[in-house]
Amino acid sequence: MLTEDQVLQALRGVVDPELGGDVVELGMIPDITIDDGKVAVGVALTIAECPMRNQIEQDTIRKVSALPGVTGVTVEVRAMTREQRAEVMSTARRKARENAEPTLVNPLTRVIAVGSGKGGVGKSSVSVNLALAIADLGHRVGLLDADIWGFSIPRMLGTEERLVANDDGIIIPVETQGIKLVSTGLIVDSEETALMWRGLMLSKALEQFLKQVAWGDVDYLVIDMPPGTGDIQMALSRLLPQAEMVVVTTPQKAAQKVAARVADMARRSYMPVVGVIENMSGFTCEHGDTYPLFGVGGGRELADSLGVPLIASIPLDRAIVSGGDQGRPVVRTHSATPSAAAFHDAARGIVGLVPPAQDETCTARVARLVEALDAARAEPAISD
Ligand SMILES: Nc1ncnc2c1ncn2[C@@H]1O[C@H](COP(=O)(O)OP(=O)(O)OP(=O)(O)O)[C@@H](O)[C@H]1O
Ligand SMILES: [Mg+2]
Repeated sequence: MLTEDQVLQALRGVVDPELGGDVVELGMIPDITIDDGKVAVGVALTIAECPMRNQIEQDTIRKVSALPGVTGVTVEVRAMTREQRAEVMSTARRKARENAEPTLVNPLTRVIAVGSGKGGVGKSSVSVNLALAIADLGHRVGLLDADIWGFSIPRMLGTEERLVANDDGIIIPVETQGIKLVSTGLIVDSEETALMWRGLMLSKALEQFLKQVAWGDVDYLVIDMPPGTGDIQMALSRLLPQAEMVVVTTPQKAAQKVAARVADMARRSYMPVVGVIENMSGFTCEHGDTYPLFGVGGGRELADSLGVPLIASIPLDRAIVSGGDQGRPVVRTHSATPSAAAFHDAARGIVGLVPPAQDETCTARVARLVEALDAARAEPAISD
């Protein structure tokens, strides 16, 4: 007699590669019905357009068909409820943490990844000034430029020093303006040298920066993320499961699209989004008039849709551009300006945030957002 246990056992061989676990431990099998040799398996997927849907369906059929006594297998795909989705993401996050490989980053270091739903919104400018402003509050700060080939931090901090390794092959970060810095830009001498390195996988480079750098006991490690939602995010969450993400956005109300990308990024990497920083908010001219060149309200809208605080709004400021080009960050060189004040607000906001509890499902928020976006798109439900 074929039993449900046997079927479940077989299903342990079906893995969701994105979530990094088998469908049974992830709670994706809500029901199994056995009628003689005919087996119907219910499979709950996180989202309707799950890219793994086909593979999971096929694997399920293959594994269950292989059991003795099975004459037919049907798979009924269902969409998870919000609670189920939050639960499964929390399980995936816990697993990621359990399987995390050791790095040289102290587990007590708060890791703040500065990301965005699109490029060019000021992630690097924010990372630099935020790191300095956190250091100004009296904390030890590291800054990791995770934009491996698009590095811009060394120029923004005006350092031409080079990373060196000690006798054990451990890389010592460059100390500049009171923070520790690591960037590919501190290794390669020119674009040509950079090209020679291109064979190296980006995620491998990130791995080296976390496993072979003497970060010491920095209180905060700020990470400037590259644009996009790819390998680096996933590698980071695998290597540093304590990482929290702060999202930089402009005031423009293209929020739906950006929110969808941020949600996707967080969903794939199980990285909790803890707050939003709006950058390039209004421009104030020398007569004191303020012009909202890039619109109004985008930061608030994204923060609300993610259910997280809007940590700060950084105004448009020419000094941010020139300071970035000349290695003279505004928080140090124009400390009395509104933009410097806004970066200090951001630093205080982040330090004051309670970091998510170790097994908290950050992702419950993202699950809620994904749900809202799905509903907005009014896609027909799957299953049936
Ligand atoms: N608040 C601001 N006011 C004026 N200019 C700004 C502001 N923030 C950033 N910039 C300028 O906008 C440009 C893009 O900024 P930055 O390089 O920090 O963005 P990024 O998100 O890191 O870009 P990428 O996605 O390419 O990594 C730079 O020239 C920078 O000086
Ligand atoms: Mg950048």
